[in-house]
Amino acid sequence: MTRTLAIIKPDAVFSGKVGAIIDHLLREEFSLLGLRMTRLNRAQAEAFYAVHSERPFFPSLVSFMTSGPVVVLALEGESAVPRLREVIGATDPQEAEEGTIRALHAKSKERNAIHASDSDRNAAVEIGFFFSESELLAL
Ligand code: CMP
Repeated sequence: MTRTLAIIKPDAVFSGKVGAIIDHLLREEFSLLGLRMTRLNRAQAEAFYAVHSERPFFPSLVSFMTSGPVVVLALEGESAVPRLREVIGATDPQEAEEGTIRALHAKSKERNAIHASDSDRNAAVEIGFFFSESELLAL
C-alpha cells in the first residue's frame, strides 16, 4: 500500500461535487487517511505549486486555487499515485478518458476539479504540506 494526496479544487467544491468525488475515490478502493476542508492563502498556493512558478498559467492558477475552499484528501491504496492519476484522467478534461473524475466533473484545463500527486516522493511532500503524521488515521 502507498499513499497519495488529492485536492478537490474550488470549481468542484463550488459546484457541489465533493460528495460525488469522494464516493468515486472510495469505489475505486482508496482508503481515506486524512480529510480537511480549508482555503489556501496566496503564500500556500504559491508554495504548493512552486514547481510551476515560471509557467505562464501560474498567476491564474494561484488566483483560482485561492478563490474558495478546497478539500484535501490523504489517500492510501495499491500503487496509489499512478492509480489515482488514472482515475482522475488527463489535466485537460477534453482529453480525459470517459468515466474519469475530470471527464465527469472538470470545467477546463485550469478548473480541472482535482489535483493528484505525480510521484511517491511528491506525494510524501504534499501530504506533509497539509497533515502531520499523527493526523493520518488508518482504518
Ligand atoms: P494540477 O494537477 O493541480 O497541477 C498543476 C495545475 O496547473 C493543473 O492541475 C491545472 O489546474 C493547471 N494547469 C496545467 N496546465 C495548464 C495550462 N496549460 N493552462 C492553465 N492551467 C494549467
